[in-house]
Amino acid sequence: MAFLIVASARANLFAAEARALKPELDVRIAPELGCGADIDYALVWNPPHGLLRTLPNLKLIVSVGAGVDGILSDPGLPDVPIARYVDPDLTQRMVEYVVLHVLYHHRRMSEFRELQGLRRWEYLAEPAAHEVRVGIMGLGVLGAAASKLLGALGYQVRGWSRSPKRLEGMACFAGTAELEAFLAATDILVVLLPLTPETRGIINRRLLRGLARQGRAGLLPGPVLINAGRGGLQVDADIVAALAATELYAASLDVFETEPLPQASPLWSHPRVVITPHNAAESVPAAIVRYALEQVRKHARGEPVANLIDRQKGY
Ligand code: NDP
Ligand code: OXD
Repeated sequence: MAFLIVASARANLFAAEARALKPELDVRIAPELGCGADIDYALVWNPPHGLLRTLPNLKLIVSVGAGVDGILSDPGLPDVPIARYVDPDLTQRMVEYVVLHVLYHHRRMSEFRELQGLRRWEYLAEPAAHEVRVGIMGLGVLGAAASKLLGALGYQVRGWSRSPKRLEGMACFAGTAELEAFLAATDILVVLLPLTPETRGIINRRLLRGLARQGRAGLLPGPVLINAGRGGLQVDADIVAALAATELYAASLDVFETEPLPQASPLWSHPRVVITPHNAAESVPAAIVRYALEQVRKHARGEPVANLIDRQKGY
């Protein structure tokens, strides 16, 4: 059995982990694949288009990421099952990111940082957590986990998904028909959607204008956007314009239309924008490889593989 590893910058790390865990495994790193017909399983992150098509005996693709848009974008993708990465450590890291940034904006930290720069000792009004409405777009593994902790901190949490849901302690909205109502009572918007043809560009000026204009208690200066889903979900230029027009007050962005974020982007220097380099929930190589080998083992034994994606839905 041969196991292909293609994982951009981290391919060597993945290969080393796989060889340490299973020395008998024939691990190959693209582009040095040898005979493509030997390869049964692929562990990939944004594989070069056309590469997977050259593997006639490929049986399963395991995604290094929770998001599979970088795999599904390959027009020559072979028709084999795709398992995405779902892991408690990754989920924990994302929950930390979301809670950190909700708290950061709720507690007006960007303004306090600015005041610190000016050596000014000044109070700013801050609402209580229970007065702040946090809306989460995407109620999957990550969105649901983040909603629980935000709820435990006292925030009013609401969520939006494709199909209707019932989650304890929060109002759930679904589909295009309920998007407007979801946004209208959202002070801090958290985006944890996958990138699909349906969601591409969804975070645009029109959507941002639909957010609650002022926090319920009248204490938050304006709406906040936190996007840790995918850059393709947002229109960077619309975010810049919405910030300039104060339709959007502040943002935390982990993902961008172009990554790395181009030097010329005005987002870099906006005082109320926090930028991180797509590391909201960086995955650990050892855990990814263990997970991948587990899926390979299940597949080889004819057992159900975990977290297979639905190619029609795109996630
Ligand atoms: P899931 O597949 O578990 O959940 C996706 C959620 O999005 C579901 O609730 C789904 O609705 C909803 N959704 C999908 N399409 C639509 C739509 N058209 N309209 C409304 N809702 C929709 O994904 P995860 O929670 O595991 O991950 C979410 C995303 O987070 C990943 O796809 C990835 O892009 C991103 N990510 C980013 C990381 C980072 O470091 N920045 C790290 C890990 C993930 P339904 O429940 O009805 O199916
Ligand atoms: C992922 C990511 O999808 O890290 O897991 O972006």
